Amino acid sequence: MSVLSKRWFQAHQRDTWRKQARSKGYRARSAFKLQQIQNRFEVIREGDLVLDVGCHPGGWTQIAVETTGSEGLVIGVDLLASAPIDGAHLLTGDIKNPDTQDRIAELLNEGECVNGEHLPIPSGKGRRLFNSIVSDISPSLTGQYDRDQAISLELVAMVFDFTLPLLAPGGSFVTKIFQGTGIEGIVNAAKNRFSRVQRFSPDASRNSSSEVYLVCKNQLPKSKKKSRGISVTRELEIHLESTGIIQDGSDVEDDEKPAKTGFRIVRKKD
Ligand SMILES: C[S@@+](CC[C@H](N)C(=O)[O-])C[C@H]1O[C@@H](n2cnc3c(N)ncnc32)[C@H](O)[C@@H]1O
Repeated sequence: MSVLSKRWFQAHQRDTWRKQARSKGYRARSAFKLQQIQNRFEVIREGDLVLDVGCHPGGWTQIAVETTGSEGLVIGVDLLASAPIDGAHLLTGDIKNPDTQDRIAELLNEGECVNGEHLPIPSGKGRRLFNSIVSDISPSLTGQYDRDQAISLELVAMVFDFTLPLLAPGGSFVTKIFQGTGIEGIVNAAKNRFSRVQRFSPDASRNSSSEVYLVCKNQLPKSKKKSRGISVTRELEIHLESTGIIQDGSDVEDDEKPAKTGFRIVRKKD
């Protein structure tokens, strides 16, 4: 297939999903990605408590609400405000901000439901935790693939670190990642924390980009020994250092430093 016909075909595919989304009342074609992940891996069950990270405009939240039903609770968070969805709490905020994280934890433990009803917190069970965390988070893209991929990888590592303390043992975690350098660092860190980790490319995204979803099931009660006490971000850094992709930054010239990521990427000199 020529480059032109490939791009044409991809645009057609995207358009098809978009039309289907519109006809089913979903806010974004991405809803089908979570639906396909759900059909294959059953990451959300009826009655679950679910966190949707990077939820705007709300396609994944709609699927999560449909799946959890009236007994469940879905909390969505995004930098951008989303129009309300019955059965969900949608917060506007940065997932990296401790205030946003506190608001999520508070909401989870209030057990409030959007229809005005409060879900009772089971007595004697202490703090509630999510059964499932799904993240379709994506930074604003610059168009420079290496830089976008590095920023996205770091963001995903942070989402793991900020949200895993809120996930119950046995819980599921789904995240979008962009294929490329360093991805094994995230996959390995996930394998140290979950008993089953698989990459999955839903039909709804297969033709569009290099995105892939990491589906992690059954969070271990304790992470494996080699990663105990280490954050996912640190594990990713160690991986990137060990493969020579990053250095500690001391010998990198100022004008070579990437602006937005904490990682210092070693650029190839011409
Ligand atoms: C691909 S969109 C999500 C689409 C959504 N899953 C749906 O089905 O409607 C990615 C989202 O991640 C959000 N995002 C990026 N960085 C974020 C951050 N630090 N905190 C919260 N949301 C963030 C963006 O604002 C964007 O809306």
